[in-house]
Amino acid sequence: MGALTAWQAMFDVANLTSGQRILITGASGGVGSMAVQLAKAKGAFVIGTASGRNEEFVRSLGADEFVDYTGQPFEEVVKNVDVVFDTVGSDTLERAFQTLKPGGFLVSVAGNPSETPSEEKVREFGVEAAWSFSKPNPQELAEITKLVDEGQVKAHVSTVLPLAEVKKAHQLSQSGRTRGKIVLQVAA
Ligand SMILES: NC(=O)c1ccc[n+]([C@@H]2O[C@H](COP(=O)([O-])OP(=O)(O)OC[C@H]3O[C@@H](n4cnc5c(N)ncnc54)[C@H](OP(=O)(O)O)[C@@H]3O)[C@@H](O)[C@H]2O)c1
Repeated sequence: MGALTAWQAMFDVANLTSGQRILITGASGGVGSMAVQLAKAKGAFVIGTASGRNEEFVRSLGADEFVDYTGQPFEEVVKNVDVVFDTVGSDTLERAFQTLKPGGFLVSVAGNPSETPSEEKVREFGVEAAWSFSKPNPQELAEITKLVDEGQVKAHVSTVLPLAEVKKAHQLSQSGRTRGKIVLQVAA
């Protein structure tokens, strides 16, 4: 799900190509950690944001540059990107417009469709923007599976809980601090 969400937003919506520069916000999360690996596999130059405790993790996924959003406003140090892939939303989404080159593309998957990027900012910065919602796609899943089989993409699991602890899993997920994915396990 995380990989398919990232794939469709970056490749189908924003048309990210090899050699382009992409900023991925929330690069340590379930969607963001897949996005970093898929963008690298595509041949893009990847800049990821998260807090400092996740720097090593995000760099280990292949990110070329890392920005600790708690240390400095990321939009002050990241400039001239072709694509922004936003997985954080709200204020981060609004500020991310400042990092794009004219003609660039901002795509967000955060929150819900009512949080579409601002039309006003699209005009102000001369860019394109869209909100992307993942859809089932067996062909794309097969391409992702190939990258997993080749070892180019890995799912990073931070926590495994029994199904009975689904409430705790939701609380953890909603804390916004998850690194990679949380797995719920059904007893054999
Ligand atoms: N549209 C769709 O089809 C679709 C599909 C799946 C998910 N989503 C949405 O995508 C969003 C991301 O989902 P997810 O599962 O990847 O989230 P997640 O795993 O909960 O993301 C948590 C990660 O985000 C980082 N983070 C939190 N605040 C940040 C900030 N201000 N700047 C940079 N990084 C920050 C955290 O790192 P630190 O702890 O270091 O801050 C943490 O590692 C959610 O809104 C979800 O609803 C949409």
